[in-house]
Amino acid sequence: MSSLVRSFSSSLGRKLLMGASGLLLLAFLVVHVAGNLVLFAGRDAFNGYSYHLVSNPLIYVAELALLVLFTAHLVAGIVVTARNRAARRHRYAVKHWARGKSSKSHKSVASSTMIVSGVFMIAFVPLHLWTFKWGPNYPSSADPAVRDLYRLVIEEFRRPLEVAWYVGAMLVIGFHLWHGFASGCESLGVDDRDWLRRTGQVLAVAITGGFVIVPIAIWLGWVPA
Ligand code: HEM
Repeated sequence: MSSLVRSFSSSLGRKLLMGASGLLLLAFLVVHVAGNLVLFAGRDAFNGYSYHLVSNPLIYVAELALLVLFTAHLVAGIVVTARNRAARRHRYAVKHWARGKSSKSHKSVASSTMIVSGVFMIAFVPLHLWTFKWGPNYPSSADPAVRDLYRLVIEEFRRPLEVAWYVGAMLVIGFHLWHGFASGCESLGVDDRDWLRRTGQVLAVAITGGFVIVPIAIWLGWVPA
């Protein structure tokens, strides 16, 4: 943990930490969205998948790692943004476009609002865990030891307001990812390249699309209760 604290104290350390934690969080989202799509395979498949996940003792290690990554990413992001703004205000800042002209021309709404979309997750994640992870623990009729998470997800997304909240939240997160992948790779020293940004954008669309299809399909009645 002390190397984590040391990383916060230099700007290079903060950048590396932000890049590495961001890419690992992105990997979590890829796994998470794939897990969500198991819902389309039916109640037993989804509940079985979730049961195997939560009954594995390694889940506690994974959850702790997620918490550390999320906190490190958020704190580093807030510190980097605050320092950049302060530097700009004092006119010390020469905007540091990592690769001169090319990066400057890539500045977009998504890249300028990373802090806003990032801070949004401080609200989203606890609310999300409250709804699903710590939500009603329905026992499944096939095996009462197995949680009927399928039922909970269907119940939640039969409510139009919940669907609207999730679709809106996923779009904000997708906006963050749009710029996040290339930015994370650049922070780790990978050259800014068109293919890198395109890959990030394709990933952002695929992840966002994979997330929003679940609430929308349930709301439209395409998934049996
Ligand atoms: C439509 C979108 C989403 C749906 C339907 C969904 C669904 C779920 C469900 C059902 C669980 C409980 C899993 C279990 O206890 O077995 C869960 C856990 C979780 N979700 Fe999501 N999720 C979505 C999007 C997201 C996003 C965008 C993030 C992150 C920004 C996220 C972060 C988490 C985290 C951190 C957990 C807890 C993992 C753990 O402790 O094991 N989810 N999600």
